Amino acid sequence: MRFLPLDKLINLHDGYRRAFKIDQLEILLLQEAGKVWAVSSRCPHQEQSLIDAEIIDEQLLCPRHHFAFELANDGVQVDGLCASLKVFATAYEGNEIGILLP
Ligand code: FES
Repeated sequence: MRFLPLDKLINLHDGYRRAFKIDQLEILLLQEAGKVWAVSSRCPHQEQSLIDAEIIDEQLLCPRHHFAFELANDGVQVDGLCASLKVFATAYEGNEIGILLP
C-alpha cells in the first residue's frame, strides 16, 4: 500500500472539508464528530460535489437528492438507490493524514 499525504493533522477540526484532485482521483477529506473520512468528492448518483455534504450519525447526506451513504460500511447507499460512495482508507504518517492506495 502506498501512503498519499493530504493535509497536516493540525488543520483538522470538526466541520473540516477540503477537496483534492490528484492524478485521476477526486478526494474529499472531512471531519465530523472527531472522525476523519476520505471519500470520493462526487456523489455516485449524479456527480454532485459533496463539499457541502452533511454528516449525521456517520451517514453522509448528498446535498442534491439527499441520498444517505454509510461511511463506516464502505459507503453503501442506505436505500440501495445507487452505487456506493467510494470511501478511502485513511492513515497517518508523522504529522500528516492521508489515504492508502494499492
Ligand atoms: S446527486 Fe447525490 S443523491 Fe443525487
